[in-house]
Amino acid sequence: MEVVIVPDSAAGGELIAEAMADLLRRKPDALLGVATGSTPLPIYEALAAKVAAKEVDASRARICQLDEYVGLPAGHPESYRSVVLREVVEPLGLDEDSFMGPDGAAEDVAAACVAYDRALAEAGGVDLQLLGIGTDGHIGFNEPCSSLASRTRIKTLTHRTRVDNARFFDGDIEEVPHHVITQGIGTILEARHLVLLATGEAKADAVTLAVEGPLSALVPASALQLHPHATVVVDEAAASGLK
Ligand code: F6R
Repeated sequence: MEVVIVPDSAAGGELIAEAMADLLRRKPDALLGVATGSTPLPIYEALAAKVAAKEVDASRARICQLDEYVGLPAGHPESYRSVVLREVVEPLGLDEDSFMGPDGAAEDVAAACVAYDRALAEAGGVDLQLLGIGTDGHIGFNEPCSSLASRTRIKTLTHRTRVDNARFFDGDIEEVPHHVITQGIGTILEARHLVLLATGEAKADAVTLAVEGPLSALVPASALQLHPHATVVVDEAAASGLK
């Protein structure tokens, strides 16, 4: 695992956007796995700026989601499909056909999960998967005690994650869904390159456990220790607990 410490989130966003641009220069139809939440927004802004400045052509890029809420009405502004369309797909000038995600509105959620793993494999696998980290050490929505071999499946969010995410729902925890579909840890580990960005002091404990702690299902992000090409980009606050 490579750990890169940057001064702030803007620098982290720029560094990772340049890595994504470099991948697209080598492989124009790369499949880019994106995360949602606050942390990756500087990456998407920096990548969109590179596309606007014609530093990279992203017109053949393909985008896939890491996870999705279950039970939000279609088109809800905080569904991850809506968020990825708004924050990534549209700013990069891509159309919806270049974008795939798990179907959080499926009647048969279990079948939708299996179908999503199959779709990722049929697309040739994820070339670069962006990850954030939860304050409880989750990646995707693999909460603590998720199997390190897990596949895409339905999960129940912990109370802590619902509290953390209430800010996207006008601060009302009652509006935060209880369930999500998430790529499993085993699914995530199949991506060719994992890039985790963590910023802010609230992530320091989770980052320390993931990077320096034992490999443990109690800290799902520690699974990155198993991956042959994992990059962890942290700002100084998120790195503050590292030895
Ligand atoms: C979102 C996701 C989550 C977030 C994590 C951190 O798609 O998979 O693992 O990355 O909850 O969220 P932020 O960045 O909002 O702190």
